[in-house]
Amino acid sequence: MSILVIGGGGREHAIAWKINQSRIEHNIFCLPGNPGTAAFATNIPGKVTDFELVKNTVSAKDIDLVVVGPEVPLVEGIADYLKAEAPSVKVIGPSKQGAMLEGSKDFAKDFMTRHGIPTARYATFTAKRYDRACAFLKEMQPPYVLKADGLAAGKGVLIVDDLQQAESLLKDIFDGKFGAAGDKVVIEQFLEGIEMSAFVITDGKDYLLLPEAKDYKRVGDGDTGLNTGGMGSVSPVCFADGPFMEKVRSRIIEPTIAGIAKDGIDYKGFIFFGLMNCKGDPYVIEYNVRMGDPETESVMTRISSDLLEHLIACADGTLAEETIEISEKAAVTVIMASGGYPEAYQSHYPIMAPKEPGALVFHCGTAYGDGCVVTAGGRVLAVTANAPDIAQAREDAYDAVGNIYFEDCYYRNDIASDLLSLAGEE
Ligand code: AMP
Ligand code: GLY
Repeated sequence: MSILVIGGGGREHAIAWKINQSRIEHNIFCLPGNPGTAAFATNIPGKVTDFELVKNTVSAKDIDLVVVGPEVPLVEGIADYLKAEAPSVKVIGPSKQGAMLEGSKDFAKDFMTRHGIPTARYATFTAKRYDRACAFLKEMQPPYVLKADGLAAGKGVLIVDDLQQAESLLKDIFDGKFGAAGDKVVIEQFLEGIEMSAFVITDGKDYLLLPEAKDYKRVGDGDTGLNTGGMGSVSPVCFADGPFMEKVRSRIIEPTIAGIAKDGIDYKGFIFFGLMNCKGDPYVIEYNVRMGDPETESVMTRISSDLLEHLIACADGTLAEETIEISEKAAVTVIMASGGYPEAYQSHYPIMAPKEPGALVFHCGTAYGDGCVVTAGGRVLAVTANAPDIAQAREDAYDAVGNIYFEDCYYRNDIASDLLSLAGEE
């Protein structure tokens, strides 16, 4: 079977790495992939939004299954395009309508409200209703949460304590701070609690629950500094125990999938539920229609059943017959980033690992330089270790990070340490 993984980051490296363990005979292509995926797959240069290239690759390489990693091609309708242009290929990734669960915060909030899925109280406004939006803000308690409706590369959520600042940011968004993504703004209640992420593979009727994870979004230790794509991840999450996950299944996952079916949405792919645990009750902060990065790097290493089999069943609509097996081992992923990220940073530094790192190394932002692999992004490598408990996985991941070198490297020192104290391991 030939598989095409769309994307070129750590998430796609981890998905392709897991597919590569399948007992089904396979041949993996990545578009564009990275030097990490090149170790076991064929990379095809190009852009993830070049649908024609994807179609031509499907036909030239006799691809049976396309797995779409990032959200942008999904929101732009790659699944619908392939359904029309290459109807025999199986696609993991929702239709354009399904992708609106991530592509429009207003669509997602309306969906949750209609289907009775717990989420923060909200209202949506356009620029014409700036005054009404300000009146709504006044009704809310600080901190104020403003969300640009459309995709804004993870930057579209603003949380501020001061009402005047919220009003002026609202104006900035309407004035184009996030481009067209800010034509509409969702204002919502601030949810107090601890965040975690749940992931499923769904064929639109049934689902497999993947291991849950927690990511670390802020750049600095102790959750300080600017927001990033994610500086590390850990799985499992101790407070996501049996009773809590039962609430997540019955109040959130199952009503979401039932809602997708009821609304007639064509959905075969991943759903990533960004959740807030508010005193033991889960609320949805956001939906993503893809896996998280760097959550995937931890999650994939904990799936012990055959992911490729699950993905084929997902595309065929037979997920009800599948069972997922999850390893008892913990996973901790530490992102090695370029100094300066998420603001300006230098690239093209050689990456050196004089000895075996002793953990899995997924490539996020790397490229080929002069005879070596060089840094080529803000997030450069995701280093993942598995061990019987989080404390050991964390130690192993940091030991491995210590065995890899590139100039100006930056990483957080406290990935997963909050869970150690929560779980009483420290
Ligand atoms: P998002 O881009 O939707 O993932 O939001 C970015 C981050 O903002 C989330 O990971 C949360 O930490 C935070 N956030 C978003 N919405 C809320 C909310 N209603 N209450 C508290 N925090 C929120
Ligand atoms: N790590 C968060 C995300 O992928 O959206």
